[in-house]
Amino acid sequence: MDRIFSGIQPTGNLHLGNYLGAVQNWVKLQSSYECIYCIVDMHAITTFQKPETLIGNILEVASILIASGIDINNSILFNQSRVAMHAELAWIFNCTAKIGWLNRMTQFKDKAGKNREKASAGLYVYPNLMAADILAYKATHVPVGDDQKQHLELTRDIATSFNDNYKTDFFPLVEPLILGEATRVMNLRDGSKKMSKSDESDFSRINITDSAEKISAKIKKAKTDSLPVPDSSSELSNRLEAKNLIGIFAALRGISLQDIIKDYGGGSFSVLKDDLTECIIEELQPVGKEIKELLNNKDELDKILKDGAERAKEISRPVVNEVKNIVGFLT
Ligand code: AMP
Ligand code: TRP
Repeated sequence: MDRIFSGIQPTGNLHLGNYLGAVQNWVKLQSSYECIYCIVDMHAITTFQKPETLIGNILEVASILIASGIDINNSILFNQSRVAMHAELAWIFNCTAKIGWLNRMTQFKDKAGKNREKASAGLYVYPNLMAADILAYKATHVPVGDDQKQHLELTRDIATSFNDNYKTDFFPLVEPLILGEATRVMNLRDGSKKMSKSDESDFSRINITDSAEKISAKIKKAKTDSLPVPDSSSELSNRLEAKNLIGIFAALRGISLQDIIKDYGGGSFSVLKDDLTECIIEELQPVGKEIKELLNNKDELDKILKDGAERAKEISRPVVNEVKNIVGFLT
């Protein structure tokens, strides 16, 4: 049976890229798949997190996901560290993945930067833990933004290598689901960089919890060029900032880039920006309200994650036990 698994890091500042590249798709997929969604706190500590900040961020991400439409009565929502199978399987995958494969991971290169010797060992083996997250549930489909494609290829390599080494067909080969017109939302101040939680400038991103005033100010200030809005899609490839705004608009409306170009092409950016602002506010304002309400009852959020973890354990425990048998451990 088809099963969805996906994860998001509780590292603060969830933004429109997370929303359009991941969360919005997670919500839609619930009607056609069994879905397991994980707040990956163990991935978060691959770079140092203050404990009190981490706890707050886990609950905040839970509130954002529920407010966006994750249905906790059907889908499973939990935080990773509560389910030990992730760490157990990750160790086995540390012994399956090759150093050469990890050396090719661009996210590690980006996050470790120039000072690679000082990066944590966890940051290096991060993709092995991600493969364990997915394969502990034998998930078949993984909805993510474009930046995670390489990690999912590694997950397939790990599954193939494990199956070959142990002469089994135990692990499925996962399919990435990279959906919609905003699979890579870019920085509002620089169209060549990804919108990210960690960029110093808050004006580089729209946070899911931003007020209407903030959203309006940020879109007004968003970088564009001095030409009118592109009137053909062939123009988009060298007009990155324009492409980004059009992509965000199309994804929010659930239509194609071409449809937006048809409506706004040749016009001024200020008209497009006004309508885009309205569209973002319309989408995010109800979510923001609901987040506030949910965060008033943190005990309830904690209970939801705990219940989710129990359901996650029921699925992953037998899978990981079987892996241990295959590997030759006494269980
Ligand atoms: P992270 O915040 O790194 O845990 O990412 C959570 C999810 O959001 C993953 O599926 C990412 O691929 C997706 N994501 C993160 N940044 C962006 C972005 N700028 N555009 C589209 N998707 C993104
Ligand atoms: N690495 C992902 C990111 O940074 C988060 C993640 C962890 C994930 N485990 C996962 C995504 C499993 C999909 C499936 O965005």
